[in-house]
Amino acid sequence: MNLRGVKGMNDVLPGEIGRWQRLEAAFRSTVELHRYREVRTPLVEPTELFVRSIGEEADIVRKEMYSFDQHGDNLTLRPEGTAGAARAYVEHGVAAREPLTRWYYLGPMFRAERPQKGRYRQFWQAGCEVYGDPGPATDAEMIDMLVSFFRELGIASVTVHLNSLGGPDTRVRYGAALVAHLEPQKDALSDDSKRRLTTNPLRVLDSKDPRDVAACEGAPSILAVLDEADRAHFDALCRYLDRLGTPYLVDPRLVRGLDYYTRTLFEIRGSGGDLGAQNALGGGGRYDRMVRELGGPDVPSIGFALGLERLLLAMPPDAAPEPPCVAIAPMGDVATGEALLLARELRRLGVAADVDARGGSLKSMLRRANAIAARVAVVIGAGELTRGTVQIKDLAQHAQLDAPRAEAADTIARLLAAAEPTGSAPT
Ligand code: HAM
Repeated sequence: MNLRGVKGMNDVLPGEIGRWQRLEAAFRSTVELHRYREVRTPLVEPTELFVRSIGEEADIVRKEMYSFDQHGDNLTLRPEGTAGAARAYVEHGVAAREPLTRWYYLGPMFRAERPQKGRYRQFWQAGCEVYGDPGPATDAEMIDMLVSFFRELGIASVTVHLNSLGGPDTRVRYGAALVAHLEPQKDALSDDSKRRLTTNPLRVLDSKDPRDVAACEGAPSILAVLDEADRAHFDALCRYLDRLGTPYLVDPRLVRGLDYYTRTLFEIRGSGGDLGAQNALGGGGRYDRMVRELGGPDVPSIGFALGLERLLLAMPPDAAPEPPCVAIAPMGDVATGEALLLARELRRLGVAADVDARGGSLKSMLRRANAIAARVAVVIGAGELTRGTVQIKDLAQHAQLDAPRAEAADTIARLLAAAEPTGSAPT
C-alpha cells in the first residue's frame, strides 16, 4: 500500500523552506520591535475551550474541528490560536503581574475545511494578542503594524477592511434589524443562511452565495446602530489611522467567522500574486469579554492572525540566494579524516561545509558540489596529503589554488567573504 499524507495537510520540503524561514524571521522581527513576546501553547486543548470562546454556532465549531476522546477527556486540535493563548493567560495569572501584555505565536492550526488553493486542513498562522488596553490607539497601532509588515514583504495590493460590531447589546439590536430586513426574503436565501437567520443572523452578511448577497442589498448598516461609546471608539480608531496615514476601508458588511469579537473588527484582503479565491491574508479584532468568560479578570483584548501559506502565495518571488557552502572531496580514508577536520574548522568560522565521504570518483564529487550549488570545492587527494596542502576550486570564478592545509579554513572563509556582496558571515 502506498501511504500518503492526510488530504489538505502539506509537507514543506527543504527547497521551499528558505521562504518560510525568511517570512517567519520577518514576522518575529516586526512584532518584537513592537514589544510582543512569544508564547507557545499546546496544539491540543479541551474541546470545551473552543466551544465556549469561538461560539457553538460558528462553522469552525459546528463542522471543522478535529476532536477526539482520550483518557476520558474530549480534546481538539486547535483551529486557531486566540483561545489557547487566552486560556494560558488566565491559567498563569498573567494579568496580575503584567497589566499590559503583548504576546505573539507562530504555529500550525487545524480545520477540517474543504481543501483548495490557499485553504488547507493544517495551515500555519502567525498571530498577536494584546491584553489589558481597551483603547482605540492599540487597535490603530496593531493595524498599522500589519500594513507596514505587508509592505516589507513586498505585498503591495492589500486592503484593510474595518468595521465595528459594538458590544453584545448592539449585536442583539442589529441582529433584530437584520432579521427584519431578511425575513420577507427568507425563501430566497441559501439553506445555511435560512438556519443562520435564527441562530446567528450577522453571518448571513458574510455569505458569498449570490442569493444571500442579493438579499443583503439595502440591509441596514451596523455602524448606524452603534451606541455612543462604541461609536466614539470606532471614530477615534479611524482618527488614529488617519493620523498614521494607514489606509483602510470602512466595511459595515465585515463580520468574520468567530463569535468572540466585540467592537473593532478587521480583515486584510489581497488581490495580487497567486492568491485565487482565498484572499483573506489575515484578520482579527477585539474580544473584550473572552478573558473574563474563561474565568479571568475583566481584561479587554485585541489580536489578529495571518495565514502563512496565503502570505507566501501573495509574496513576490524570492531572489534571496542560499548561503554559500563549501563541498569537500576527499580521496581515500586518510584524506577523509582530514576532510572531517577541515569541515569542523570551517563550521567554527560560520561557513557551511559538506563532506562527501562516500568514496566515489573526483568527478562524481564535483558533480555533487555543483548539485548543492557549492561556491567552493576542496579536493584532498594523495598529492595534497604528501605536500600538506589542499586544492581550493572557486566554482563561480573557475579558478583554483593550492593552500597550506593549516591555513585552508581561513583562506576559504576569506574567499567566501570577498565573494559576498554584504561581506557578512553566512548563516
Ligand atoms: P481567522 O480569520 O479564522 O482568524 O484566521 C486568520 C487567517 O488564517 C485567515 O485570514 C487566513 O489567512 C488564515 N486561515 C484561516 N483558515 C485557513 C485555512 N483553512 N487554510 C489556510 N489559511 C487559513 C483567527 O483565527 C483569529 N484567531 C484571529 C484573531 C486573533 N482574532 C483575534 N486574535
